[in-house]
Amino acid sequence: ENKPTTRMVEAHELLKKFYHHLLVNTKEGQQAYDYLIERGFSRETIDEFEIGFSLDSWEFMTKFLTKRGFQLTEMEKAGLLVKRAKDGAFFDRFRGRVMFPIADLQGKTVAFSGRLIENIEGQPKYLNSPETAIFNKGKTIYNFHRAKKHIRKNQQVLLFEGFADVISAVKAECPNAIATMGTALTDEQAKIIRRNVESVVICYDSDHAGIEAAYKAANILTSVGCTVKVAVMPQGYDPDDYIKEQGPERFRNEVIDGSLTFMSFKMRYLRRGKNLQNEAERMKYIEDVLKEISQLTKAVEQEHYLRQLSQEFSISLDALQQQKNQISSLSG
Ligand code: CTP
Ligand code: MN
Ligand code: MN
Ligand code: MN
Ligand code: MN
Repeated sequence: ENKPTTRMVEAHELLKKFYHHLLVNTKEGQQAYDYLIERGFSRETIDEFEIGFSLDSWEFMTKFLTKRGFQLTEMEKAGLLVKRAKDGAFFDRFRGRVMFPIADLQGKTVAFSGRLIENIEGQPKYLNSPETAIFNKGKTIYNFHRAKKHIRKNQQVLLFEGFADVISAVKAECPNAIATMGTALTDEQAKIIRRNVESVVICYDSDHAGIEAAYKAANILTSVGCTVKVAVMPQGYDPDDYIKEQGPERFRNEVIDGSLTFMSFKMRYLRRGKNLQNEAERMKYIEDVLKEISQLTKAVEQEHYLRQLSQEFSISLDALQQQKNQISSLSG
């Protein structure tokens, strides 16, 4: 007799294969397939990531699972079905969506994320499985099971915001690519990363939300002992867009290799919205940066950024040192 969690995984594995079949071999899946090709995903990529398509039906999954002997109440607990409040009937959670299978750290399929092919008013672009006995969002890392050996070999991991970014990055010869599950990076995820590698390049979208999230993720990763860099792209781009428009070479050579140290990123972050021509705002900026510099543990790094400030604002290194020491004695 199997455990419930074993059956839940089994259902996900079966559905993953069937969704993939629907996408690549059937006329129902044609529009979704064309959409993916149009986006620049190749057939090879679709196969590698086992991308699929869920039929636009309320009862496809219900029938599929019943036929194979699964209990519908258990499949509702697995997040695959939804129970209708008014009569207790079960229906499919994922309908008419491009299906991205989500694996746990060992590679077992434990969840799905389904993307709409065209925007539908009032419906989320991505619909994810809920938390279940087999799927803990905060401990799951997209593509980790495939990326692990490359992360260890390259001694570096590239952390993205979205599935599409990871898939594009892998296609652009960056196989050490992972993403969180559409939520902020958790301490658990950071610890899992740290167990495998020290160096992390955060490569989030270059929009307001992405920059805020990168700042938070960088702090969490630093606190678990990672060395963090932050990749920056022109305003409005996400890595997937960038790779498609500017090409894989530029992505690797300029965005990844040109990524900023966390401190340089902080300096950029701190000057956003400030007019440094204005004396008061300039002083505030310098103080904010000194506060950050005083937190750096390596003397050589402190000196490096102090010199940078000194040069940019024509303030003596001495004065900057003094004020920095004042700040650190105040903050204990
Ligand atoms: N996300 C989500 N639900 C949404 C929107 C986003 O769960 N309604 C998550 C997804 O994991 C997505 C990530 O947040 O991959 C980043 O969101 P966004 O940048 O909007 O999506 P992209 O990854 O750029 O997706 P696409 O290119 O397909 O539009
Ligand atoms: Mn295939
Ligand atoms: Mn985004
Ligand atoms: Mn994006
Ligand atoms: Mn995108």
